[in-house]
Amino acid sequence: MDHVVALLSVAAWSATGATAAARRGRLALGLLAAAVLVTLARVTTVALLAGRGWWFVQEKLLLNLPMLGAAGLAAVLIAGPRLLAARRAPDAGIPASAVVLPLTAGYGALAGLAVTFLAGYPLTWSTALIAGSLVGGGALLTARVVAAPVDTTGYADIASAQAPHGTPGFSRRRFIGLAGGAVVAGAGTTGVGLLFLPADSADTGGGPGWSSSSGPGASVADLRGPGAPAPGGTRRQYLLTAQTATVRLPSGREIKAWTYNGQLPGPPITATEGDLIEVTLRNTDIDDGVTLHWHGYDVPCGEDGAPGVTQHVVAPGEAFVYRFRADQVGTYWYHTHQASHLGVRRGLYGTLVVTPRGQQASTGRLDLTLPVHTFDGIGVIADQDGRTEHTAPAGTDVRLRLINTDSVPHRFALAGTPFRVTAVDGRDLNRPGEVSEAGLRLPAGGRYDLVFAMPDTPVALVLDNDHAGGLRLRPDDHAGAVGEGTAVEDTSGWPELDLLRYGTPAAVPFDADSRADRHFTIVLDRGVAMVDGRPAYGQTVNGRGHPSIPDQLVAEGDLVRFTVANRSLESHPWHLHGHPVLILSRNGTPSSGSPLWVDTFDVRPGEVWEVAFRATNPGIWMNHCHNLPHAHQGMMLRLCYDGVSTPFQGSHTARGGRGHGH
Ligand code: C2O
Ligand code: CU
Repeated sequence: MDHVVALLSVAAWSATGATAAARRGRLALGLLAAAVLVTLARVTTVALLAGRGWWFVQEKLLLNLPMLGAAGLAAVLIAGPRLLAARRAPDAGIPASAVVLPLTAGYGALAGLAVTFLAGYPLTWSTALIAGSLVGGGALLTARVVAAPVDTTGYADIASAQAPHGTPGFSRRRFIGLAGGAVVAGAGTTGVGLLFLPADSADTGGGPGWSSSSGPGASVADLRGPGAPAPGGTRRQYLLTAQTATVRLPSGREIKAWTYNGQLPGPPITATEGDLIEVTLRNTDIDDGVTLHWHGYDVPCGEDGAPGVTQHVVAPGEAFVYRFRADQVGTYWYHTHQASHLGVRRGLYGTLVVTPRGQQASTGRLDLTLPVHTFDGIGVIADQDGRTEHTAPAGTDVRLRLINTDSVPHRFALAGTPFRVTAVDGRDLNRPGEVSEAGLRLPAGGRYDLVFAMPDTPVALVLDNDHAGGLRLRPDDHAGAVGEGTAVEDTSGWPELDLLRYGTPAAVPFDADSRADRHFTIVLDRGVAMVDGRPAYGQTVNGRGHPSIPDQLVAEGDLVRFTVANRSLESHPWHLHGHPVLILSRNGTPSSGSPLWVDTFDVRPGEVWEVAFRATNPGIWMNHCHNLPHAHQGMMLRLCYDGVSTPFQGSHTARGGRGHGH
């Protein structure tokens, strides 16, 4: 709404000036009144936005409104009376100021809009100087054009009305023009020059900076997993070969994909708590290179699979061995982190499920791991074998492990039975209540475990309101009932379950009142920024794009807090590697249900999330938007532990070629 009102103000002020120039005094006066009203409306919309937080209005309050307000006020106070006078005496002509001042207000409004869309938060001196000089320059140029004595046009008398020929006024005006031009040029040049000032390389979040005394410290290359399982555990070895392949989808359609072992999804990796997972990754013919990132799994940093940060990318013909202990129980997934905006979409992903020790997956239980992925615009949810229909005797304990492997959120609805969301992002909730007729919004990268007892009637898992597709479960004695047009009730109107109010509170190691050792603000937006060394209209964090976003510096043991504000018009599923974060609040409302530990939280337009975590996993960790194209367009930074260094380098993007890639 604010953008719309801002646009209207550009239009109203410009039209005022233009009609005055066209000597339509009466119309100009009416438009002037409209411009004033729209500007006042703008103050209201900005005030409303300010209620969401300073990050949403900073440039508007410090620059845009003052710039517009000053020009608008001058237009009202100086041009207004002249337009009034011109209306009373139409033959006297319209003075130049009545044209120049409203147009200047129009430039101011336009510049403000440009600042919001191109630069955003935080407002910098550079932006302010450039915007101010453009508006000032525009005003001077307009004055010059409007006031130039041209014999044959109506402008001649406009000029003479303001400063009669032959008086010293003319040269004074010339002097003002020259001086103004010099100021404008100086401000503009300074603003552009400031663009090239290097940014701080690190943000300390209010904590101490790099300790210089810590010597060489640890290298991520040495932060590797253990070589053996926990006592009683087993070693689970997998070989994953990245290769292009033609794969048949559950729908029967064949697609050219990038795969692990020629399968879509890649081989499911499963383990029991305490096992050692050992995965050898080979690359046959993925020219961009590949890695394996264990999404949501808090592996030692050297196993994290971030190319250019924790390892070299694995090029065709090369290999890398990952080893880590299956200490976290739950539903996770893995994917390439190299050119991931392409690789994951084309198929370089798979599931990772770790079950508790001592639990036998067997009779009386149906446990389905269900990654959702979009191929050629069609969302597919199926188990590893591509099956979308299952049977289970009534009374069976069913667990559906939903995994969103896409870059956008998906909506799920479970029709036909009440259920519980027992785990989010692999971590169990505390006493989750039974829900029915609720929509579930699963952020990009996120997981939900849904649990219910199989009823003696069919159950449907509806994906994105497509009631014909999705997954079907039926009790044994309903053989044949599914697939023969069992109508699924319309779930599209079901309200969305709010996980911040779901389940029961429980003890947490820290909360919103705990004093954080570091506090980082992450303001997400679109804007013009350097992304991988090139200017781009990118996805930005605090006005910058990867890799020019300062690293976040933490020390081991710190309690770290993030404030994540989304100024843009798209959702940003925020994802920190290596640590789950505890949700503290959303838009100022504290999380009031079960403690919610997640690795991805969806920050929707206009939202502000507060989350915290304990820095207990030393390393250099990617911290990014899990809308992977957004990450590629700049929305990615690093969280670095003091004393940890990396021997790997690269821009962590697809364009850098081998050894440099995201
Ligand atoms: Cu699932 Cu950095 O990613
Ligand atoms: Cu994003």
